[in-house]
Amino acid sequence: MFEASLWHPVAQPADVTGTPVPVQLLGQDLVLWRDADGTLQAFADQCPHRGARLSLGQVRDGQLECPYHGWRFAGNGQCTLVPALPSFKPPTSNCAKRYAVREAHGLLWVRLQSPEGVEAELPAFLAETDERLRKLNCGPYDVAASAPRIIENFLDLSHFGFVHEGWLGSRDATGVDDYQVESTPTGLRATGCKAWQPQSNLHSTAPAQVEYSYEVTAPYAAVLTKVPEDGTAPDGWRESIGLFICPLTPETSRVWFRLAIADFASSDEKLQAFQHTIFTQDQPVLESQRPKCLPLDLRAELHTAADKASSAYRRYLKNSGITFGVC
Ligand code: FES
Ligand code: CO
Repeated sequence: MFEASLWHPVAQPADVTGTPVPVQLLGQDLVLWRDADGTLQAFADQCPHRGARLSLGQVRDGQLECPYHGWRFAGNGQCTLVPALPSFKPPTSNCAKRYAVREAHGLLWVRLQSPEGVEAELPAFLAETDERLRKLNCGPYDVAASAPRIIENFLDLSHFGFVHEGWLGSRDATGVDDYQVESTPTGLRATGCKAWQPQSNLHSTAPAQVEYSYEVTAPYAAVLTKVPEDGTAPDGWRESIGLFICPLTPETSRVWFRLAIADFASSDEKLQAFQHTIFTQDQPVLESQRPKCLPLDLRAELHTAADKASSAYRRYLKNSGITFGVC
């Protein structure tokens, strides 16, 4: 499975403190915990002794203790103690299954499989390293939709006047002007996307024509970039919203938005509330789509010129060899 060799977001760093945290990725159960050095670890959530869930256990003296017979595992996965045989020294073959984990873009990322060739990069989010911008997470949202349906919705301009009427769109201005789409090594870029938006952000006081560009940076990641609204930031600044999705199962997803913005005045709560309003408008429609997995055969659904970003996304997924969340 190609997607198993990619990095996927599974949690936020602050979610993992003193107790083991169960998470799911690509249908696999994992446990996140911090070892004696405070280093984050991701193990299969299944004890190699009798299969109990390690996430029901505890972290003791910097090691993960299984809830069933108390076997202990160090951060490197090695079993260090079998309480039923206190003087037994477990061999190196007695170990928990461990996965690569990293912290980036305000999230924790896990990769299930070592790549066979070149190592996959984390999905790019260039605004993360722009020191001038404020970074903030929104989410997670647990959504009963496939990750590709959620990415495609993010690229979709023609739903604004209906799903986000009075916010990102208006029934009086539903036309989608032509925009440009090009493929990139990690997906696609759509530029010159314009929308007439009554309330494009927290501070809008009047409708405005907003111009976006979108980039798909990995099969389940995308970034929207826009010029900040008039007067809120110096010329030349760009704000970004990253959409990072953990594919839990083929038909369910955990979703984060990562904001990189020029607004330093508003509270976290206000900024998150705006994003929340918009996403909870999308969510029921996303959860209603059938089939829940995204059809990659372009003949399976109907497309118009206004959908060319989503058609390009489907072609990219098909060429990439992704199997999870698509049909
Ligand atoms: Fe984990 Fe036995 S099942 S110690
Ligand atoms: Co929407």
